[in-house]
Amino acid sequence: MVVPGSQNPEEQMFNPPSELQKDAHIPDFKTYLQLYKKSIDDPEAFWKEVAQDFFWKSPPKGQFLQYNFDVKKGNIYVKFMEGAKTNMCYNILDRNVKEKNCGEKVAYYWEGNSCDQYRAITYSQLLKEVCKCANVLKYMGVKKGDRVAIYLPMIPELVYVMLACVRIGAVHSIVFAGFSSDSLCERIVDSECSVLVTADGVYRGEKLINLKQIADEALEKCKEKGNVTVKNCIVVRHLGQMTKNGVVSLKLQTPWRADCDVWWDEVMKGSSEECEPEWVDAEDPLFILYTSGSTGKPKGVLHTVAGYLLYTALTFKYVFDHHPEDVYWCTADIGWITGHSYITYGPLANGATSVLFEGIPVHPHVGRFWEIIEKYSVTKFYTAPTAIRLLMKYGPEPLKQFNLDSLKILGTVGEPINPEAWLWYYNIVGQKRCPVLDTFWQTETGGHVLTPLPAATPLKPGSATLPFFGVLPVILNEHGEELEGEAEGYLVFRQPWPAIMRSVYGNHERFENIYFKKFPGFYVTGDGCKRDKDGYYWITGRIDDMLNVSGHLLSTAEVEAALTEYPAVAEAAVVSRPHSVKGECLYCFVTLKDGKEFGHQLAEELKRQVRVKIGPIATPDFIQNAPALPKTRSGKIMRRILRQIARNEKDLGDLSTLADPKVVEVLFNQRCEAAA
Ligand code: WTA
Repeated sequence: MVVPGSQNPEEQMFNPPSELQKDAHIPDFKTYLQLYKKSIDDPEAFWKEVAQDFFWKSPPKGQFLQYNFDVKKGNIYVKFMEGAKTNMCYNILDRNVKEKNCGEKVAYYWEGNSCDQYRAITYSQLLKEVCKCANVLKYMGVKKGDRVAIYLPMIPELVYVMLACVRIGAVHSIVFAGFSSDSLCERIVDSECSVLVTADGVYRGEKLINLKQIADEALEKCKEKGNVTVKNCIVVRHLGQMTKNGVVSLKLQTPWRADCDVWWDEVMKGSSEECEPEWVDAEDPLFILYTSGSTGKPKGVLHTVAGYLLYTALTFKYVFDHHPEDVYWCTADIGWITGHSYITYGPLANGATSVLFEGIPVHPHVGRFWEIIEKYSVTKFYTAPTAIRLLMKYGPEPLKQFNLDSLKILGTVGEPINPEAWLWYYNIVGQKRCPVLDTFWQTETGGHVLTPLPAATPLKPGSATLPFFGVLPVILNEHGEELEGEAEGYLVFRQPWPAIMRSVYGNHERFENIYFKKFPGFYVTGDGCKRDKDGYYWITGRIDDMLNVSGHLLSTAEVEAALTEYPAVAEAAVVSRPHSVKGECLYCFVTLKDGKEFGHQLAEELKRQVRVKIGPIATPDFIQNAPALPKTRSGKIMRRILRQIARNEKDLGDLSTLADPKVVEVLFNQRCEAAA
C-alpha cells in the first residue's frame, strides 16, 4: 500500500485500497482526470447532468451559469440555474420518502451527551416534524425571505427547524450554541431575524449550559441597541426530557418572558403534518452563516439554493463514496459550515443514514468516539485534526476495546493535519485499510474544494491533494502573477463552482473587497498554499490576521477588541502560537493603562472577558503584559515579531523598521513560558 519513500511526507504515497475500487463511483485516477477535465472545459454540461438528479418545478429561464469574477469588469456575481424553481427541502426529504422508497430508512441516529440517550429518526418521521415546524413558523408570520435565528445544541430539533425554514423559503441563520450572548446578539441584529429558536439548556460533557438564559441576555442586548426584530422565541424542552434513572429531571430554572416565549412541544402539538413547499428561485437565499472577518465584525456568508444543493450533494456522494448501506458520521456541530453541508444537506440529498452526536469525544470516557462507531457500525467517519490529536494523546488502548472493522473511509476538515496525526488516524483508527481524506474548504466555498477521492487519489499525509470537479485552483505571488509547477503563494480560484458564496449578507461591497479586490479575476481564499512536483496542493495556513484554533477560525481583531473593552487595557495584540492539540492557540499581549498593575488575577479576568464576549472557543491560552508593543514608525504593530516572541524564536531578523527596538528585549524577558 505504501509506496517506498523517505520520511518526507511529500514523497510518501498511499494508494487507494483495491477493495474500495470495486464499486466506487469514481473507481480510479483516470476516471477522476477525465471527469475533472469535463467539469472545467464545459462546466455547464457537467452541472446540467448533476441537476438531472433533482426536482425542478420549472427549468432555468436564461443561461445555466453566469458569473463575473473580475472587479474591473463590474459587480461580482455568480448565478447557477437562475429562474429555475425548486425547493431544497422537497428535494432532500419528500423525494426520498415518496419517490425513492426511503421513508422507513433511518436519516439520523441521534446519540446524546450521555450514553443512555439515543434514538433513531426515519426519513418519513423527519419529513413530518419538518412540516409541523414549518407550519409553526408560518403561524408566527415567518414568510419567504425572512430570517430565523437558531441557537440550539446538536439535537434533532436543530435539523427540523433548519429544514422547516427551507421548506417555506425562509433563511436560517444558525449560531453555534457555544457562542456568547454578545455574539448571538450581533448576529441577530445583523440579519434582522424575526424568530429565535433555542433550548432550555444542554450538557456538554459534565458542564451544564443555560442556553435560554444566554438567549435572553442576547435579546436584551438587541433591545438596548434599539433592535426588536425578534417577535417570538421558541424554546425546546431538551433537559426537561432527559431521564436519569427513569425520573424526569429539569435542573435549570428556565427564565420565561411571557410576551415572547413559547415551548416547542406546545406549539408543535397541534401543528399539521402537511405543508406545501414554497417554490423558490434557484438563486434565492438558502441560509446565512457567520464567519470571523479579519477586520471588523463577522461576515454573514450567504448561500443560495440550487448551486449549494448540487455541490453538497455531489461532493458528499463522491468524496465519501456514498452507498445506500453506509452509516456515515460527521462529528462537527451543525453550527459550523461542516455541519450544514455534511450533516444536513449533503447526506440528506443522498438519502444517507447519519449519526447526529450531541456530546464530546471524551465524555463519559475517552473511547466515546470508538464506542459510537462500534454501536452503529459506522462506515464513513469525518472529524477534525484537533479531535484526532486529542485522542492520540490517550494512545491506542481506548480503541482496542471497540470493534472498528466497519470503517471504510476516514475524513478530516478544518485545519491543516500534521503528518503525525494523519498517520495515527490511518494506522490506528483506520487499521491501514481506510483512506484518510484531508478535505480543504471554507464556509465561503460551501463544500470541499481541494480533496482526495477515496478510490481514485493516491494520498500524501498532510496534503489536501487535488481539486474537486469544477474547481480551478491557481497559485499567485505577491504581485498577482500566476505561478506554474512547483510553487508556493496565495491560493485563489479562477472560476466559480456551484456552492461558492454569493454575497456577504447586507453588504455586497464587503464581499467584493474581501474576496475579489486583491487579485482581480480570482476568488481569494486567504490561505497560503504550496504545489509540489506532482501537482498536489498543501495548505500552509492563513495569510491574513486569522487564527485557526481547534478548527475554528478566529480573527485577531475580534479578540483584540474584546480585550481592549476591558477598562484596564490600553492596547492589545493577539498572535498565534502552536499548540499540540488545538493546532494553534491564542497568545495575547496587553498594554495596561497608566497606574494599572498586571498580575495572575488580571490575566484570568482577561481570559474570562474574551470568553464572555466571544465564546469559550476563543479563550486565550496566554496573556502577557506588554509595557509597550513593537511598532513601526508609522505606528503599525509588527505582528511578525510578536509571533516570534510567542514562539520563543530568538532570531528576529531585521528590526530596523521598529520605532523602538528595545521593546523587543523587554517582551522576551516577560514571555509566558508555560505550555498550554
Ligand atoms: C482552514 C471549515 C488546511 C483554512 C470547513 C480555511 C484547512 C479555513 C482545511 C476555513 C484543511 C479548512 N487543511 N486548512 N483540510 N480545512 N482549513 O470557514 O484556513 O470554518 O480557510 O470552514 O479553515 O474555515 P471555515
